[in-house]
Amino acid sequence: MQHDNTRKSREASMDYQPLRGQRALVTGASSGIGEGIARAFGAAGAAVVVNYGGNADAAYRVVDEVKATGSEALAIRADVSKEADVEAMFAEVQRAWAGIDILVSNAGLQRDAAVTEMTLEQWNTVIGVNLTGAFLCCRAAARAMIAQGVRAQISRAAGKIVCISSVHEIIPWAGHVNYAASKGGVKLFMQSLAQELAPHRIRVNSIAPGAIMTPINRPAWETPDALASLLKLIPYGRIGTPDDIGRAAVWLASDDADYVHGQTIVVDGGMTLYPEFAQGG
Ligand code: BGC
Repeated sequence: MQHDNTRKSREASMDYQPLRGQRALVTGASSGIGEGIARAFGAAGAAVVVNYGGNADAAYRVVDEVKATGSEALAIRADVSKEADVEAMFAEVQRAWAGIDILVSNAGLQRDAAVTEMTLEQWNTVIGVNLTGAFLCCRAAARAMIAQGVRAQISRAAGKIVCISSVHEIIPWAGHVNYAASKGGVKLFMQSLAQELAPHRIRVNSIAPGAIMTPINRPAWETPDALASLLKLIPYGRIGTPDDIGRAAVWLASDDADYVHGQTIVVDGGMTLYPEFAQGG
């Protein structure tokens, strides 16, 4: 009986598609965390725009994977740091799907250097994609969501915006001042946006991932030595996967999280717990 109930609830949860009927755009979805979110959204019943900056083959592969879950998917190229690209992408989404319910502002990159060596180009590239890109995409999404208003049969909110930030909106990061500054910026950008858009019933939140196994941090996990030293920073004792973030994003974008607004959900295996203090201080 116990066993039967467990099986039934598992089957029910497989049918549970909290994003059914919703139209989502995920930026930077051709690899890494964005890819994980796109797949999780497809499985949760959302139609997904897979935005990519350069790698069309990878984006079309993600589109095929989303379609294999039974959901619609579209690949659209746009450099999120370029206003004209972002505006053209949102116009295309409008033409294809007549609106948008969820934006995940995920596209991000690193250009690491000691501050004394960091070029203005490295600084501008990171701020351009990680922070200005978030502004351009959120602005376009907010305009579209305000125009369409609440579609009560689809969701309690007129729209949901999820910014993918980082534990480095909290943890300072020597050798990465451009990246940490961009993520610190995303924190107050998201909170201010949440304050401003609440009257329009647009929910705005962030997810702050810790170390997730993706191409952006390959040097931190690709050798056993590097992985061992990374794991010292993660109390839970494993590196994260894009799926860990995908599941959190589905929940945050769904009506299950309808009263969650202006928050950063940290998904980091405890990286922000100051693990070095477990035996010290
Ligand atoms: C960075 C990764 C890093 C992780 C934890 C992320 O935001 O992009 O390179 O491994 O934070 O430090």
